Amino acid sequence: MSKRVYVTTAIDYVNGQPHLGHAYEKIIADVITRSRRSLGREAFFLTGLDEHGQKVQQAAIAEGKQPQKYCDDLAATWEAFANQLQLTNDDFVRPTSKRHKDVVQAILARLNAEGHFYKAIYRGFYSTKEETFLTDKDRRPDGTFDPSFGEVVDLEEENYYFKLKAHQQWLIDYIEQNPSFVAPDYRRNEVLGLLKHNTLEDLCITRPANRLNWGIPVPFDPNYVTYVWFDALVNYISIPAALGDPVAAQVVNSQPLNINPQLSLWPADLHVIGKDILKFHAVYWPIMLKAMGAPLPKQVLAHGWWQKDGEKMSKTTGNVVDPVAVIDEWGIDAFRFYVLRELDIGPDGNWTDAGFRGRYSAELANGLGNLVNRSLSMLKRYRNGVVPAVSNELAVEAEKVVAETRSLLERNELQGALLAIWSLVTRANQYVDQTAPFKLAKDPQQSGRLDEVLYNLAEVCRILAVLLWPFLPTTARKIYQQLGLVGEPDKFSAAKWGGLKAGHAIGSPAALFPRKDV
Ligand code: MSP
Repeated sequence: MSKRVYVTTAIDYVNGQPHLGHAYEKIIADVITRSRRSLGREAFFLTGLDEHGQKVQQAAIAEGKQPQKYCDDLAATWEAFANQLQLTNDDFVRPTSKRHKDVVQAILARLNAEGHFYKAIYRGFYSTKEETFLTDKDRRPDGTFDPSFGEVVDLEEENYYFKLKAHQQWLIDYIEQNPSFVAPDYRRNEVLGLLKHNTLEDLCITRPANRLNWGIPVPFDPNYVTYVWFDALVNYISIPAALGDPVAAQVVNSQPLNINPQLSLWPADLHVIGKDILKFHAVYWPIMLKAMGAPLPKQVLAHGWWQKDGEKMSKTTGNVVDPVAVIDEWGIDAFRFYVLRELDIGPDGNWTDAGFRGRYSAELANGLGNLVNRSLSMLKRYRNGVVPAVSNELAVEAEKVVAETRSLLERNELQGALLAIWSLVTRANQYVDQTAPFKLAKDPQQSGRLDEVLYNLAEVCRILAVLLWPFLPTTARKIYQQLGLVGEPDKFSAAKWGGLKAGHAIGSPAALFPRKDV
């Protein structure tokens, strides 16, 4: 069995409403996974929730619920959200599940037995909100801690620590020798800078159960539960192990495990995450894996953060984008298109309602929608919906775009791929204006020329459906249906010129992106 492309996202804190940032990340991972499948690879896409820790425990108490019940209720909303985004995830991880907890405990037991942990007393200022001890670096110039840390208490506590320091030079060397391990480049440099100019503090991996009991019990000491980040990061390997992936199962060695030799997932190919959690994924996680003796993921890809109207999104000020409301009003493909077209993976972005409407109207309704609608309507009107003989007038230009899109998809340059695809939309709309089929239709002498034009337009629409499938799956499917084609446009190999055959009868054209008077 050849290795599957294994793509993951960060797991979202269950206590909170799904927002634009969560949606953006999941859509990136979905498009990358769909593109791999379209290009002929088997792929596995994992997303899910982060459910343990003090924040969740406190939120549950505030609602008068048991934490498990609280998580179960909210998990239903999050799973529904994944469906609304039309994610093609193969599994949905919940750290409160037995399959995940067993693996976390097996890893803890093993790393403890192999001497990776020690127990120590630490005294410091603790932020409950961030679930971490703060250092002097976290102080503002006036000596106080930023209100974003929430309540900060002076705490003395005995805990277990994971020896990170011993692996620091190894990690620097690894990242230098494997430059694609962290992307984009400036994020890799940030990680290298941090590693080269600081001594890593050992990582506190437990919390005393008498202070916080909403966590996975530490197998070698009943007085402790597992620190939420150690628990959460393990999801990337616990699910493959639970499903029987041979490499993950061997590393984890938790029993009983049914090995599934057909499943070949680990190491992950891609962890898609936000820039704020880079240190966890590019420093702690590789060191945890090294200690476990597991191969490292191929890449950690960090995206930027969205603002709205130039300001941080915040529930308290009401400055938020509600993805569900946008999807209900404009459709999922309009949402998927905007976030991927507007923001390249890496820098920060800014959502404006005017920008969203502008792209909807210019690129979707007047660009793609208009092209497909007028091409198919003219074929219907002038040729009764029957495809004329193959003509190659736009073949070279279309195939150039196909090749460009393929290579951009292979490099996960999603915004670039959309730009390439839209160059074909624009070219084909221009072709309609230049060849003026509505004029050709009036002159019987031009019947052969009209056939050529109609073929080229219909074939461009078909190819666009295939190229768009990873990004706008509903729209791509609609284009295929309107072309009277059966099946899904989900194989990139179908984006080869000449697929529409003479004599094929198309279906009925209908607006893809209704114009809205706004
Ligand atoms: N639970 C941790 C992740 C554990 S992964 C082993 C967490 N959860 S989160 O809900 O706070 O964030 C989940 C993801 O959403 C993160 O990758 C984060 O960067 C991303 N985003 C949260 N707000 C965002 C924006 N405003 N913009 C873009 N992405 C943002 O961190």
